[in-house]
Amino acid sequence: MIDSTTQLYGLIGNPVLGSRSPWIHNHVFNTCGIPGVYLTFNVESKALAEAVLGLKALGVKGFNVTMPYKSDIIPLLDGIDPFAKQMGAVNTVVCKGGQFYGHNTDGPGLIAVLWRQVPELEQKKILVLGAGGASRGICGALASIKGIMLGIWNRSSDKAVQLAAELDHGKSEGCTVASVCSENAFADYDVVINTTSVGMAPETEHTPININLLKQGAVVCDIVYKPHRTLLLREAIHAGYPVIYGIEMLIEQALLAQKLWNDLKDDQLFEIREALMKDFEGFHK
Ligand code: ATR
Repeated sequence: MIDSTTQLYGLIGNPVLGSRSPWIHNHVFNTCGIPGVYLTFNVESKALAEAVLGLKALGVKGFNVTMPYKSDIIPLLDGIDPFAKQMGAVNTVVCKGGQFYGHNTDGPGLIAVLWRQVPELEQKKILVLGAGGASRGICGALASIKGIMLGIWNRSSDKAVQLAAELDHGKSEGCTVASVCSENAFADYDVVINTTSVGMAPETEHTPININLLKQGAVVCDIVYKPHRTLLLREAIHAGYPVIYGIEMLIEQALLAQKLWNDLKDDQLFEIREALMKDFEGFHK
């Protein structure tokens, strides 16, 4: 029930129509008995600073930030967590004592999913497709795992070379990072993660790479969650590769945001994750 004790949470971005975040967060509030409501706010870029001040004035407890503002939000905050600062991207803002602090749960969310689903992750060769904003958070989090070998491929290879160099010089400990310029190298990797926008509208009938170039048995993961089964994942399933859906990462980054906002415990998160996946799979049978 919404009443005078209900606290406001939300998502700012452009576009936000069709976001699944309200479904996740309002489910958390309902099942955990937290007096909160989560709404989406479509913000024009010229109004971003005003929107952030407005959220502060209204006393929101926390909010998420999505495309295209994950970097633009940083100078508008009062503080930033070291990982989000290093990645140059914030997707979660926590309000404490009237001050806004930025965090990044995108990369850690994906990694939590990978740890659960890929045995011996720390010994794997992982190929990230794309070198844009989403890739930066994911590669930064992956580069913190000792033992893995991280390859970054991008359509415009200079961006992959630059990101790999940034991560390799001082930011990664015990993880090898390299840019991948030849498609022939794709067959070396055990896990492939698509962070490009290929697969979402209007490119729903495209894939970023040819699936036949991958190693047999490689795990194929797509962070695109709309559509649920991207063409890349459909082709991977057809060719017998294990897959990880984008919705799993979306749920995980949201649960990590809830942990920051409401200090949720791991057993609560486990139950919520199971319930959300069951609900979601019911829609996509
Ligand atoms: P995001 O924050 O979602 O990562 P972005 O920073 O604009 O968005 O990055 C988009 C990524 O998708 C980039 O790696 C981009 O490749 P380029 O750097 O070559 O532009 C990639 N991308 C977009 N359209 C693509 C396509 N048709 N084929 C391959 N990669 C594509």
